[in-house]
Amino acid sequence: MNYNTEIILESERLLFRQHVPEDLEAYCAMEQDPDVRRYVGDRPRTREEAEHRFKGSLKPITNRLAMWATVLKSKGNYIGRCGIYPHFDHDGGIIDGEASLGLYIAADYWGRGFATEAGQAFIKFGFGELKLNRIVTMVQVGNDASVRVLEKLGFVLTETEIGKRSFYHFELKPNKNYN
Ligand SMILES: CC(C)(COP(=O)(O)OP(=O)(O)OC[C@H]1O[C@@H](n2cnc3c(N)ncnc32)[C@H](O)[C@@H]1OP(=O)(O)O)[C@@H](O)C(=O)NCCC(=O)NCCS
Repeated sequence: MNYNTEIILESERLLFRQHVPEDLEAYCAMEQDPDVRRYVGDRPRTREEAEHRFKGSLKPITNRLAMWATVLKSKGNYIGRCGIYPHFDHDGGIIDGEASLGLYIAADYWGRGFATEAGQAFIKFGFGELKLNRIVTMVQVGNDASVRVLEKLGFVLTETEIGKRSFYHFELKPNKNYN
């Protein structure tokens, strides 16, 4: 099977494309890393679970709202997955004109501004190209690095959902810089 390696978006140091079979090891290493998974799902996935999910991410993406393999341009290696994907309402319907931001960077690459750089690229893409009205995201309370990234990107806290695991809800509206 031929995989589409077309670059869908680029930033200064990163490029974004569909996942390809060669991403398997780096993808599974992230999913099995307790540090990466601490605030996103609570526990590391097993290798079997990670491989199963990876197979799903190899399906051809036809929608521009999706999570993309994130590659460090200077070395050509996979360092995570980032993107904006459909925002669903409580009944599972897609909310038109909105998207959710997702940022997942491998721990070896934390603290070098990559999530912020990826976030900026997808915000510009979402508002400038897709003409979205709003980008949202949810962060588990305690995930302070993620909260800091969202602050740097200009997101505003709209709600704190208290539960067994509590979550902050953030939103970003377009401004003139994205048009
Ligand atoms: C959250 C995550 C995406 C950040 O990626 P990153 O590439 O390290 O982010 P950046 O380097 O762009 O910015 C991180 C910022 O958080 C700060 N930071 C890091 N750890 C922190 C902590 N414990 N408390 C507060 N701030 C923290 C950094 O200092 C930096 O801010 P600065 O530029 O003002 O110094 C990454 O840690 C990750 O993928 N985590 C696992 C998955 C996850 O939680 N994703 C978010 C889901 S909502």
